[in-house]
Amino acid sequence: MADLATTQRKDQTEPARLDPYQIRADFPILATVNRFGKPLIYLDSAATSLKPQAVIEAVDGYNREYSSNIHRGIYELAERATGAYEAARAKTARLINAPEPAEIVFVRNATEAINLVAYSWGRHHIGRGDSIVLTEMEHHANLVPWQLVVQEKDGDLEFVPVTDDGLLQLDVYEVLLHLRPKLVAFTHVSNMLGTVNPVREMVEMAHAAGALVLIDGAQAVPHAPVDVQELGADFYVFSGHKMLGPTGSGALWARRGLLEAMPPFMAGGDMIREVHLRRSDWNEIPYKFEAGTPDISAQIGMGAAAEYLMALGMESVRAHERELTRYAMEVLPREVPGIELYGPAAELRGGVVSFNLPGIHPHDVAQILDRSGICLRAGHHCTMPLHERFDLAATARASFNVYTVPEEIDALAAGLRDVVRIFDR
Ligand code: ALA
Repeated sequence: MADLATTQRKDQTEPARLDPYQIRADFPILATVNRFGKPLIYLDSAATSLKPQAVIEAVDGYNREYSSNIHRGIYELAERATGAYEAARAKTARLINAPEPAEIVFVRNATEAINLVAYSWGRHHIGRGDSIVLTEMEHHANLVPWQLVVQEKDGDLEFVPVTDDGLLQLDVYEVLLHLRPKLVAFTHVSNMLGTVNPVREMVEMAHAAGALVLIDGAQAVPHAPVDVQELGADFYVFSGHKMLGPTGSGALWARRGLLEAMPPFMAGGDMIREVHLRRSDWNEIPYKFEAGTPDISAQIGMGAAAEYLMALGMESVRAHERELTRYAMEVLPREVPGIELYGPAAELRGGVVSFNLPGIHPHDVAQILDRSGICLRAGHHCTMPLHERFDLAATARASFNVYTVPEEIDALAAGLRDVVRIFDR
C-alpha cells in the first residue's frame, strides 16, 4: 500500500519539523472558550478546518479595500479584484503542481467539482451498459452524482470492496477493470477510515484498461504534498474549507484537453464569448465553467490558504499529522477501556481516527465531550455505505490538522474515559 509520501514530489531532505504551538497563534479561534469556559479542542478538521489570520485577512481585505466584480470592470478596484482572484488560481495550481492555472476551475467545494464532471463529462460519455467503477469507501459526494448519471443513461456502477482492515481490495479492482469501465472514481484518503489509497497504482491500472480517472482529494490536499502531474489522473477535486480556506471555495483540476472538450455545466455570464438571441459560444477555460459572479473573497482566501500551507511545507505538514495519528492510535486503545478503532494501521492512514465506545452512541460521546470543549464529529460522516459495510450505524471521529497538538489527544483520551465512567454507573 502506497502512502501519501510515495504519491508526491520527492524531497531528498528530511522535512523541517512543524511547531504546532507556534502555528496555533495564527488561528484566532483557538484563543476562544466554550460556554463552560473550556478552551477549544478542535478535533473535527476533516469536516472543516480552522482558518488562520492570513486567510481571514485576505477575505477581509477584499471586502474592505477592493470589493468589486471580476473580469468585468475597467476601473482600478475591479482590476485589483481580478488580479487577486487570478493570483489565487495560480497559487492553487502551484499547491497541486498543476501544469497551468487555466486547468484550475474554481467551484464552491469538492462536491460541486464532482457534479460538474458528472454533468458535463459523464452525461456525454456514459451510455447504455457503460460502467463506472467506484469504491465502497466513497463519500456521498463521489457516489450520488454517479448514481444519477447511470440512472439517466442506463449505465452501471461497480464497487471495489473494502477489507476488514479498511483497505481497498485491489485484486477485485483488477477484475472490475476487465469490464472496460469508462471512468474510475475514488477517494485519495478516506474521510472515515483515514485509509490512504495507492492512487498512482490505481490510476495506472485504470488507464491500462482505457478508463479515465477522477480522484476525490478533499482529505488529501490539506494534509500532504499532492502532485497531479505525478499522479497522472484526469480529474482531481478538492475543497478550500478543509485546507484552512473559507467555506464556499474549492477547485477542480483537469487536463486542458478534457476541459476544452467538455460542454459547460452552468450557463450565464462570464462563461460565454459571444451571445446571440438563439445561440452562444463559450469562453476559454477555465471561465467556460465559472458562470455568474463567483464567491470572489472565498477563492482569494483559498489562495491565501494555499500560500500558507506551501510556506509550512506540505512534507512537514504530512510528517506532523502522521506523528499525531500514530500517537492517537497508541494512546486511545491504551487509555480508553473497550474503545474500538476502525481503519488501517497509522502508517497507512491520514490524520483521521474513527471509533466507538461499547454500548454508547457516538452522539452521546460527542455531546458529553462538548462540555469539555472537545469538538468531534459523530454520525455516518457522509459515508453510509461504508458504515453499512462494517455493520455500524455511526461512529465518532477525531481528525487532525497543522494546529493539533498531542495534549489535545490526551484530553480526548481523558474525556472518553469520563464518558465510559458515566455510562458504567
Ligand atoms: N466530508 C466532511 C466530513 O467528512 C463533511 O466530515
